[in-house]
Amino acid sequence: MSWIEEKATRELARVREAQDAQVYPYFREFETGGLHTQIGGKKIINFSSNDYLGLTTHPRVKEAARKAVDKYGCGLSSSRVQATTTEHVELERRFAEWFEFEKCLLFTTGYQAMVGTLASLADQDTTIILDSFSHACILDGTFLSAGTPGKSPEVRFFNHNSAKSLERILKSRERKNALVVVEGIYSLDGDRALLKEFVEICARHDATLIVDDAHGTGTLGTRGTGIIEEMGLHGKVPIVISTFSKTFGGIGGILLGSSEVVDFIKHTARSFLFSASLPIPVVAAAATILDMMIEDGPKLVAELHQKAHYMRDSLVRAGFDLGASSTHIMPIMCREERTTLFMHVALLECGVLLVPITYPAVKHGEERLRLNVTRGHTQEDLDTALDLLKSYGEAFFVLGSDEKPHAPSVSASL
Ligand SMILES: Cc1ncc(COP(=O)(O)O)c(C=O)c1O
Repeated sequence: MSWIEEKATRELARVREAQDAQVYPYFREFETGGLHTQIGGKKIINFSSNDYLGLTTHPRVKEAARKAVDKYGCGLSSSRVQATTTEHVELERRFAEWFEFEKCLLFTTGYQAMVGTLASLADQDTTIILDSFSHACILDGTFLSAGTPGKSPEVRFFNHNSAKSLERILKSRERKNALVVVEGIYSLDGDRALLKEFVEICARHDATLIVDDAHGTGTLGTRGTGIIEEMGLHGKVPIVISTFSKTFGGIGGILLGSSEVVDFIKHTARSFLFSASLPIPVVAAAATILDMMIEDGPKLVAELHQKAHYMRDSLVRAGFDLGASSTHIMPIMCREERTTLFMHVALLECGVLLVPITYPAVKHGEERLRLNVTRGHTQEDLDTALDLLKSYGEAFFVLGSDEKPHAPSVSASL
């Protein structure tokens, strides 16, 4: 056996074990899109989707994408350097205006936006300071920077959402320039960044703050522009990164900042310069969702909050532990791997999909099912999930068991 075959077999042992026990939960094949999907011919209510405002499959959005296919086809067969269209530039202009930033640059994914931004900005004079729960794109952008010959920044971590810990690291940093990266909402725990405190601390220590608001875009702030709007911090955060892959219904990355900084990243970020241009049907879909946000944002966001509030209240009253969540992302803490996987399988058998999050995405003892409430879920969807969660929560002793201590989770989300 070659070493790559040996390595693959060794590394896949856990996956094969779960597959053999028929509890392997990932890469399930959807037979249709949306929050109401189908798997293996069975109707499924999907609570794993990040389509937070339920707009991805809206007829207006689909029609806009269809028209764009007629005009441009499905792709542009080159990077933005050679394949920028009036549609890209117009959406960048409109996003900058809506988010209230000087300039916007569209990447092909949010992951690439973060990796490219960190690799462009950080160098040997920089200390990158990360929350210990950072998403994979933040870690990978940092590791790419750290591995770039002659440009390697210092890399430090602070305790999740801890202002004290961040300040301690800032005070003891070894390099002149500091780049602090946090997320608006943490995707495994559903808690918000303590952004006001972070803004103050960064100002005090002359540090640049980057906010990844992938999960706050479309869900926080009256207009839905994110955590900066919700916390009244416009003009206080120099760089925000977001994505089309949640509220904006497709795929694509959003970088927001000053003209000079965004233009610098546009001319240096290799994940932007050397990867294919965002397809125009996707741009058209996102532009249509932006139209809808401008027309009706406050109503759409309020409807999401009302549903999330109902679900949170009902789950808490039933006795579920939702960890640190304060948003529409609700981890249902099971705190044991087998229980989490069995709950997932039992719920799926009954037509409800919740993603299980297990080690190494979280620490042992922190295993959970993640439930994303969206505006597109109906009252019946919420009640169906609640009833099943209560029944299986009791059957699998997730409810009524002694609460284990809340230990922090780590690393990348799915
Ligand atoms: C916090 C966070 N940042 C960035 C990304 C990456 O976005 P994209 O799916 O556009 O690559 C995600 C998506 O999972 C995310 O959850």
